[in-house]
Amino acid sequence: MILVRLSNRLRVSFVAVLATIVFAVFGSMSAAQTQSANVSGFWDLKTPTGDGNFRDAFFDLKQSGESVTGDAIFGPRHIPIADGTFRDGKIHFTVTMGRTPRTRVISYDGTLQDGKINMVSQAEGREPTHGVAEPSKPEAALPPPRLPIPALHEVPDNHLARTPPMGWNSWNKFAGKVSDEVVRGVADALVSSGMKDAGYVYINIDDTWEGPRDAQGNMTSNTKFPNMKALADYVHSKGLKIGIYSSPGPKTCAGYEGSYGHEVQDANTFAAWGFDYLKYDWCSAGGIYKDDDMRAVYQKMGDALLATKRPIVFSLCQYGHENVWTWGDKVGGNLWRTTGDISDNWQAMSRIGFSQFDIAGYAKPGHWNDPDMLEIGNGGMTGDEYRTHMSLWSMLAAPLIAGNDLRNMTEETKSILMNHEVIAIDQDPDGKPVKRISPADDTAMITVRPLRGGAYAIGLFNRGDQPQKINFTWAQLGIAQPGKIRDLWKHTDIPSTAPDGYAATVPTHGVMLLRVSAK
Ligand code: GLA
Repeated sequence: MILVRLSNRLRVSFVAVLATIVFAVFGSMSAAQTQSANVSGFWDLKTPTGDGNFRDAFFDLKQSGESVTGDAIFGPRHIPIADGTFRDGKIHFTVTMGRTPRTRVISYDGTLQDGKINMVSQAEGREPTHGVAEPSKPEAALPPPRLPIPALHEVPDNHLARTPPMGWNSWNKFAGKVSDEVVRGVADALVSSGMKDAGYVYINIDDTWEGPRDAQGNMTSNTKFPNMKALADYVHSKGLKIGIYSSPGPKTCAGYEGSYGHEVQDANTFAAWGFDYLKYDWCSAGGIYKDDDMRAVYQKMGDALLATKRPIVFSLCQYGHENVWTWGDKVGGNLWRTTGDISDNWQAMSRIGFSQFDIAGYAKPGHWNDPDMLEIGNGGMTGDEYRTHMSLWSMLAAPLIAGNDLRNMTEETKSILMNHEVIAIDQDPDGKPVKRISPADDTAMITVRPLRGGAYAIGLFNRGDQPQKINFTWAQLGIAQPGKIRDLWKHTDIPSTAPDGYAATVPTHGVMLLRVSAK
């Protein structure tokens, strides 16, 4: 018994000693491992977008002691990281996006575990997003090889958009939050609000509808859009038309799947789903093609759309590069963006709108300059500013693509978007160009546009910060014999004017829009 007890005791203490040794060895090994763990290398951070897709960001990191340096790689942009540390298995660094003064800092905080980094990224003022970074190779961040481009030719006219297209687009209001439900709701509202009767017919889905390609390389929609064909059928059942969005690059501007190398296949998919309009946005194509390849690249999709035999309006979006107004029609374009993106404020809207007069002569029935979509009703401008927006776009014969939440419009927004008399200027069947009479930098801007049947539209714009009197003579506008004069915002006829001209006081950032009938 004693022997047994002793040996038991011995056994117990032996086990304890062994355990201590094992713990000491392995414990110190794992401490050493953590210490020697190193985040140097090339990482691919996949962040779920919440609709079945992942967004990739790449990091090329170098660790020295506890300090981490390197680059963040977002598409073609390589941005040095700052404040990089790796301590106790935790990594931290920041990336500053954009250029001064409009910079945005994103902070990254992660934990290294089993060779992966669980990462939380957070841009200033935004919700944090979670993703997982895995070891990768620099090749993964490179754009695919450049595909050959076709020889130039003239794509035959599709005979669509004889007047500037009218409708709605999801981007300005909804951006990444567009969904099947939103699109159906907006289609319903377009009809019930009277917008359809006013001429708005296209319901256009912008970026972030895209899912991954299937095994055959066909585009699919993501979880926000369960069935594109059914959605198109629904929009058609309301007597409306429906539009979709893609890019000639591998990725869209929001980082979703683009049509690169699948142009014909995608045109066929869009036609099979029943789409009537395609906005084709340059985005990541800039990382593959040269700027002077643009015409050929857009021609490729122009040909592909025509070959589907479905009438599909072709909307070019490459921000006005390469004087697109001189060749947009030749690639089958019905409209082409002439500038960068609009936003919902006076500075952006007026900068874009008042920069368009010199190229107005390039627009014609079937082929229009597109100074971007409307912001009316989104809340960032005054009523006068939105009336200027609507009037200016109409004087320019620009597409009228509303960008607000049509399910929820104030009476003032409705009165601006559905001003039939202003819409009639935009939609004048002759599509003749507006002329600026005042010097380009004048705050009082007098513009005139000939309409069908010898009438004229006259826009008096006040870009200044005080109300001001704007006057003109008929001779100045080239109008020999003015007929009846109508105020298109007050919806009244102007009883009489001085025989040689007219004067009006126009509010700050406001407009007076007149229609002068033929005598
Ligand atoms: C670009 C376009 C916008 C919109 C976004 C979507 O910025 O100019 O109109 O389509 O892409 O990502």
